[in-house]
Amino acid sequence: MAQVGIGAISVLLPACIGGLSSCNKNQNNPAPTPVDFNLDVSNGPLATKGGFILNANVIVARTLTDTFIAVSSTCTHQGSTINYSSKSNVFICPNHGAIYDSNGNVMQGPAAASLTKYNTTLTGTSLHVYS
Ligand code: FES
Repeated sequence: MAQVGIGAISVLLPACIGGLSSCNKNQNNPAPTPVDFNLDVSNGPLATKGGFILNANVIVARTLTDTFIAVSSTCTHQGSTINYSSKSNVFICPNHGAIYDSNGNVMQGPAAASLTKYNTTLTGTSLHVYS
């Protein structure tokens, strides 16, 4: 019996050894890197508070308080594309209901790992999104 227990441990440990606190995040967060693109926010969904778009596996949103936020658009649970809810200022996965805050942190599972947050800088009507 003791040999079976040792064998089971040796099978389970290698995937997370060397970074136990971050291994789930790294395995379940297919965030694009590096990210570096510009968007014209003078027209389209980002011209309106509460609007959002998907670009290069990044979801970019204009909040109701008129700031821009950007996170990886792939749910860390099973890979569905997330949506933005302007009323709550959160990102929601339509597949199993995971909810992420505006920084990409998990507020409600089943997702366990956060989304990757990207930087945004607005110059005139050009929004720079970058990692
Ligand atoms: S794929 Fe997003 S919660 Fe399951």
